[in-house]
Amino acid sequence: MKAAVFHENGGPEVLTVAEMPTPRPGPGEVRIRVAASSMNHLDLWMRRGLPFAIPMPHIGGSDIAGTVDELGPGADPSWLGKHVVVDPSLNYDWYRLARLANTRAAPLEIVGEHTQGGFAQYAVAPVANLMEVPEGVAAELAAAAALVGVTAWHGLMSRGRLRPGERVLVTGASGGVSTMAVQYARIAGAEVFAVTSSAANVRRVQELGAHHVFDRTACDWAREVYLATGKRGVDLCLDSVGEAIWPGLVRSLAVRGRLVTFGATTGATGKLDIRLLFWRQLSILGSTMGTPAEFRQAMNLVFAGRATPPLHSVLPLDEVRAAHELLEAGGVFGKIVIQP
Ligand SMILES: NC(=O)c1ccc[n+]([C@@H]2O[C@H](COP(=O)([O-])OP(=O)(O)OC[C@H]3O[C@@H](n4cnc5c(N)ncnc54)[C@H](OP(=O)(O)O)[C@@H]3O)[C@@H](O)[C@H]2O)c1
Repeated sequence: MKAAVFHENGGPEVLTVAEMPTPRPGPGEVRIRVAASSMNHLDLWMRRGLPFAIPMPHIGGSDIAGTVDELGPGADPSWLGKHVVVDPSLNYDWYRLARLANTRAAPLEIVGEHTQGGFAQYAVAPVANLMEVPEGVAAELAAAAALVGVTAWHGLMSRGRLRPGERVLVTGASGGVSTMAVQYARIAGAEVFAVTSSAANVRRVQELGAHHVFDRTACDWAREVYLATGKRGVDLCLDSVGEAIWPGLVRSLAVRGRLVTFGATTGATGKLDIRLLFWRQLSILGSTMGTPAEFRQAMNLVFAGRATPPLHSVLPLDEVRAAHELLEAGGVFGKIVIQP
């Protein structure tokens, strides 16, 4: 099969499109003829090199949408021929089990990171991770929403405990996860504040449903948030930009505000005035991916047309290198979909 693959870490030049062995599904797995996958920031981290080893040569792409074309031993035959999207979290239950003594539970893994992903003509996935894509929903849309949807939903709803009427701030608002977070926060009945990076993006984020959007390149956005909330601050902030804007995030929070962090795009060492943390009784919470049930909740909103991942572009597999360069350069609004 044809796949976009890298054999070593480095810049976009390490990516090639090559013939790779077509995978066979193992016990409890199916093989999927991939119709669409999509780029995540994770694909950039993996190509540059993570602090731990990933399978090499590596096929990225944590989002897989396509048609089940082969069953592994024990897989329910009713999946054959179905249009599916894959929940990218493997062993998510580890988060619950890890709190029990003497657990031997396998830790969380992510499709396309710890396993071979969807930037290929075929990929394998556990049956337990399959969700049927309803007729009339394009594979491109399902693939664009999968990893980012569950991440945004879990961060806002489970870790952030967002309630109707609360004020929520979403940073990096043009990003894959954040474009979904803006829409989910609006659906949840929140007053949505967002920070992005150009006048054009401000308009697009407003169109996604944000009530107040600030251009971080043109204003002191933390001050603008403070003023727009009547000098009160927001109840919840969902951030993945990290180091570059960390001090502003803490300034933007109201008394008893919650900061949910799920990424560190600009660096992992956030500076924080500890006095603000205790005096204003703030909470900082980490968030990663989401449960199988949350994946379904997030995807059902997409299938129902209530939340839609904005598609920046749809590129053929042969242009994966260009997709990496595009995402790395910034200026992508939403998602880049890859079609084999
Ligand atoms: N923990 C998890 O489970 C999980 C899951 C998904 C993603 N992540 C992490 O979350 C982050 C976002 O992922 P993604 O796939 O949504 O990424 P993405 O689509 O590349 O979006 C990143 C956004 O960050 C903003 N940004 C980039 N550089 C910035 C800078 N110098 N200053 C301020 N803002 C900047 C940009 O938004 P604006 O231009 O609008 O400001 C950009 O669109 C990544 O670090 C990723 O690894 C973690």
